[in-house]
Amino acid sequence: MDRILITGGAGYIGANLAAALARKNDVVVADNFSSGHWRNLAYIDCETRAVDCNDPMLLDEIAAGAFAAVFHQAAITDTTVMDQRLMMEVNTNAFADILAASAESGTRVVYASSAGTYGNAPAPNRVGSSEEPENVYGFSKLAMDRIARRWYGDHPSTIVGLRYFNVYGSGESHKDKTSSMILQLYQQVKAGKQPRLFKHGEQKRDFVYIRDVISANLAALAAPRSGICNVGSGHARSFNDIIEILGKELSRSLDVDYFDNPYGFYQNHTQADVSQTAELLGWSPEWQLEDGMAEYISLLEQGFNGPVEASS
Ligand SMILES: NC(=O)c1ccc[n+]([C@@H]2O[C@H](COP(=O)([O-])OP(=O)(O)OC[C@H]3O[C@@H](n4cnc5c(N)ncnc54)[C@H](O)[C@@H]3O)[C@@H](O)[C@H]2O)c1
Repeated sequence: MDRILITGGAGYIGANLAAALARKNDVVVADNFSSGHWRNLAYIDCETRAVDCNDPMLLDEIAAGAFAAVFHQAAITDTTVMDQRLMMEVNTNAFADILAASAESGTRVVYASSAGTYGNAPAPNRVGSSEEPENVYGFSKLAMDRIARRWYGDHPSTIVGLRYFNVYGSGESHKDKTSSMILQLYQQVKAGKQPRLFKHGEQKRDFVYIRDVISANLAALAAPRSGICNVGSGHARSFNDIIEILGKELSRSLDVDYFDNPYGFYQNHTQADVSQTAELLGWSPEWQLEDGMAEYISLLEQGFNGPVEASS
């Protein structure tokens, strides 16, 4: 059994990854519980540590070769946080520490980047072109990618950056206002409220199902070289599309309350070009929005909101 470290493993994507990896590996989760929740790990057999991801003892273990691979998910994930220094220290500096430690032992690192690196650049979004973040969160992830690229020649193992687009699926309830719009709209409807969208619901996003995100991470374990690639569905879908699918799954017609967008910055259209991902990882998305939402809503209707990878 390989020993695998997941930073941010009490969070949404980290806990889904822990559930998938714990089937065949000895998983260690390192999380400071700033936004994650212990409930995500309740049904996963793993070692849990409440520490920062760049805790000196943890870095020593990475440098000594205690782990076969590191999946780095820990980050400030609330994109509305505007404290620049804090965002850069937690997201970027800590990642640099992990890369330096992993270089000593030649440990493979797979890390979470983000579609936030593209800001409002024209879609389809492609790694290496139009990387124009519009907030410090997106910049902190682009800065991670730049540090990773500088290591490529000198790192004895591989470093794979995964730019997740808008991830949805079971295990994200703890994220409240930063959870996917799919969950937020479902919760509004179930609370008997009118679903609310920014005028007029035609903004488009690349919504990627959590099972595809986990399979991309697992594929990255076998990547033949270092690189950065998009993890998205490859399709841009509107918020009105979500309302339509939600109404169908819940067998009711939904009347939307459209209101003015209060934010100065808002991504209006994201869409992943996943051709580089297929080349690097041999991975392609398998879940259409209709299929992912059908499974997600069915689980929510059964009262399940833990990591989907722990549901079967
Ligand atoms: N969910 C998405 O749609 C999405 C999209 C793009 C990128 N990402 C990235 O994916 C990763 C996982 O995001 P998520 O959606 O699971 O969010 P999440 O908030 O559920 O998980 C993040 C986890 O990291 C932990 N954490 C934060 N700072 C830490 C630190 N310094 N040391 C140790 N643990 C720390 C939190 O407690 C939490 O458990 C993040 O890097 C995020 O930026 C997510």
